[in-house]
Amino acid sequence: MRDSLHVKVSNEQAGTLTLENSEYVFDYATHDKESFVSLSMPVRTKSYVNNKLHPIFEMHLPEGYLLSIIKKHFSKIAKTDDFGLLKLMASSINGRVNYASDANAQEKTLSLENLLHPESEHLFDELVSKFALNSALSGVQPKVLAKVKDKVTIPLQEYIVKSWGEEYPHLALNEYYCMSVVKLAGIEVPEFFISDDNQLFIMKRFDVKEDGSYIGFEDMCVLQAKSAEDKYEGSYEQIAKSIKIFVSPKHKKNSLCNFFKMIVINNLLQNGDAHLKNFGLVYEDITNIKIAPAYDVVCTTLYIKNDISALYLLGSKKWWSRKFLIRFAKESCDLSTKEANTLFDECLNAIDLVKEKIEKRIESEKSLHVKEFLEKLREKFVVLL
Ligand SMILES: Nc1ncnc2c1ncn2[C@@H]1O[C@H](COP(=O)(O)OP(=O)(O)OP(=O)(O)O)[C@@H](O)[C@H]1O
Ligand SMILES: [Mg+2]
Repeated sequence: MRDSLHVKVSNEQAGTLTLENSEYVFDYATHDKESFVSLSMPVRTKSYVNNKLHPIFEMHLPEGYLLSIIKKHFSKIAKTDDFGLLKLMASSINGRVNYASDANAQEKTLSLENLLHPESEHLFDELVSKFALNSALSGVQPKVLAKVKDKVTIPLQEYIVKSWGEEYPHLALNEYYCMSVVKLAGIEVPEFFISDDNQLFIMKRFDVKEDGSYIGFEDMCVLQAKSAEDKYEGSYEQIAKSIKIFVSPKHKKNSLCNFFKMIVINNLLQNGDAHLKNFGLVYEDITNIKIAPAYDVVCTTLYIKNDISALYLLGSKKWWSRKFLIRFAKESCDLSTKEANTLFDECLNAIDLVKEKIEKRIESEKSLHVKEFLEKLREKFVVLL
């Protein structure tokens, strides 16, 4: 049996993905070297044959909650194996790599105002059901992508909207304050917001340019040729290595500094979900590759008391102290002791600043639930040196 899908890069035909006798075959239909679908799949005449969906295409599939909704809705009318899913999603996958499709993606215009000040307490559920099939980014938490009409600045920007399931109370507040640390530590982050009712975490997509065109983005699973189910396999040393292999020389130092700071913050705030899909690279072209802005930083030990690191560092998944993190900086991120200590202090300062913000908020907070949660969160921002 044979089934195929046309793959485009920046809206130009790049090649064809075919499922033939249980094998996934990708063939380029171009000689333009800039039209590569992935940094690890340069343009060539020879086919790329895989027994699973190639990681770059798998990156576009939904995971977790969204996947379950889609499968539930469509299992009776369409095949919901990886190839079937990709075909179902084809019209709504937008990014540097996208797919030719007969269906027109639904218009997803929604103002930032609507997201920040939701009128319905079911807004997120409505978004999920409305956009389930138009959501182009994968992830385990329920999340949808909406084209937001930003009334304040540029019209029609694309945002990521996140909310949470019952087992993760106040995840939006958690992510909001953790991402605030990342930002104050000087790491590049997309613009982000929290809705008035603290239910939605909203983040601008970092792969969409002001003019609506896209830059390339590949997560570490793709760059390490791993499938999504292996996102907890590997180490932060291997991520540092991928950064050194792929990032352009002019961005290398900065990318490694930012990566080291992300590792420091993940350790200090105990983010046990910093797996391979939560790091990536962005690129305008092959000579301009750098680390992607940071995303998805949350304190997971608020929900799973004894949670450990998602990946290995120095051969273990325990939380590391300053001394060991500095060693990691020197051995894997090519930093001097002095540089590593300076970056570490920047992270500590940022945590302290956000702790003060949380304290102020606790004083004025009216909701008892929110107050209680913030008090627990504040404890995680007390870093023992
Ligand atoms: N601001 C952004 N711009 C573009 N892509 C993004 C952005 N934030 C996240 N992504 C992409 O969407 C995916 C899912 O987002 P995110 O990691 O925040 O969600 P999640 O549901 O918490 O994921 P998980 O729990 O599986 O790690 C990321 O792996 C990344 O590929
Ligand atoms: Mg994630």
